[in-house]
Amino acid sequence: MRKPEVDIEIFKERQKELGSKIKGAALILVANSEYIRNHDVHHLFRQDSNFYYMTGFEEPDAVFVFRPGQVEEKIMFVRPKDPAAETWDGFRFGPEGVESVFAMDKGYNLEELSSKLPDLLKDVNKIYYRKGNHRFDSILDLAMETVQKSFGRSGKGLLPIEDFWELIGEQRVIKSEKEKEWLREAANLSAKAHTNAMKFTVPGVTERQVLAVIEYTFKMGGSARPGYNSIVASGKNATTLHYVFNDEKCSDGDLLLIDAGTEWNHYSADITRTFPVSGKFSDIQRDVYSRVLEIQKRAVDAVKPGVTFVEIQTQVIEDLTQVMIDLKLLSGEKSKLIESQAFKKYYPHNIGHFLGLDVHDQGLYTHNGEPRPLEEGMCLTIEPGLYIPIDDKSAPQELRGIGVRIEDDILVTNSGNENLTSGVPKEISEIEALVGKGLDQVI
Ligand code: GLY
Ligand code: MN
Ligand code: MN
Repeated sequence: MRKPEVDIEIFKERQKELGSKIKGAALILVANSEYIRNHDVHHLFRQDSNFYYMTGFEEPDAVFVFRPGQVEEKIMFVRPKDPAAETWDGFRFGPEGVESVFAMDKGYNLEELSSKLPDLLKDVNKIYYRKGNHRFDSILDLAMETVQKSFGRSGKGLLPIEDFWELIGEQRVIKSEKEKEWLREAANLSAKAHTNAMKFTVPGVTERQVLAVIEYTFKMGGSARPGYNSIVASGKNATTLHYVFNDEKCSDGDLLLIDAGTEWNHYSADITRTFPVSGKFSDIQRDVYSRVLEIQKRAVDAVKPGVTFVEIQTQVIEDLTQVMIDLKLLSGEKSKLIESQAFKKYYPHNIGHFLGLDVHDQGLYTHNGEPRPLEEGMCLTIEPGLYIPIDDKSAPQELRGIGVRIEDDILVTNSGNENLTSGVPKEISEIEALVGKGLDQVI
């Protein structure tokens, strides 16, 4: 029998914490399905993050019904045991397995969902569920109608449904000690991969070969999968924010932007570094890079409890707009360029995002309409960038096609922050000493 990779007690604790907030209600989580690539071949499966966060169960096609306070609190509907299917596609826990291994009070075959669901919902006062899962929405609608009919002439309507997104998001946004450990593991392994990529890169290698070094390192280090599609963008490709073609040659004289991070126990890192393919920055590349680096370091230093994303972004916009003026990308008064959002032509994104089970993790960025102060235990990225399109006729010629982003993963501590990805060089002297040095040992 396969074993869960993480101690089930962790998921029981999470259920307990959520359960204390929703007594009397039911939470329904639906697992991801497998997506067909062609015929009977599937894309690599990755569990829905909320489903995984609450159950630890990694199989597709499952439904978790959580009824805190009721007899049989935790019920899971899963694919049945099926020796023939398991011969082809591997082990399934089945209904008994989710009881014995995943601490469910009751496991059922998924086929029984429609018939069992009304009974499971008849004594709850509310349902936490996220609409939009077309396969399951109609099953739930029918179950709710059946429940409402069972109320007879009581005058009671359909059970109310509330989206669980914020409820679980707020639990996910503050990381436990274990989650911090996994984020550190993901960050360290991703840092190793970036360092390897720098060592490997010389003029003439392809983006795809660099990608291979990155993802080889991830796997050799024991990670199940990258946290997102790796971006290996040389030259002008770096001005495409999420460039994932990764199919060109890295040329002498170009910069190489790599945005890649791997998962550890489902928690992702998210690192970007930009360095010269030749190992030596040209004067203009050095100028642009060092300005973005200073801004990035200032933004990282600003991360601490009480500060908001908006405050950091505001400072970064001020600083980057000044750089745009200095480099003659923009002209005019800084305050006007900020007010008119002219800077967005060269810095079109935000300073960062929460990081966790998802690279762009769940969690509210505002509370009561106001930017939300950072808290100890949050994890976020800091990733300023400057991107000058190759066809930008208004930009000085020597700047066209340059894209620089520098991204670190930052944990908020009680007194400031911990940079989880400081293991990847970002100082110019460190980068120049490393690029093209040759890759001897991968891990
Ligand atoms: N890797 C995607 C991002 O930086 O947001
Ligand atoms: Mn990011
Ligand atoms: Mn990134």
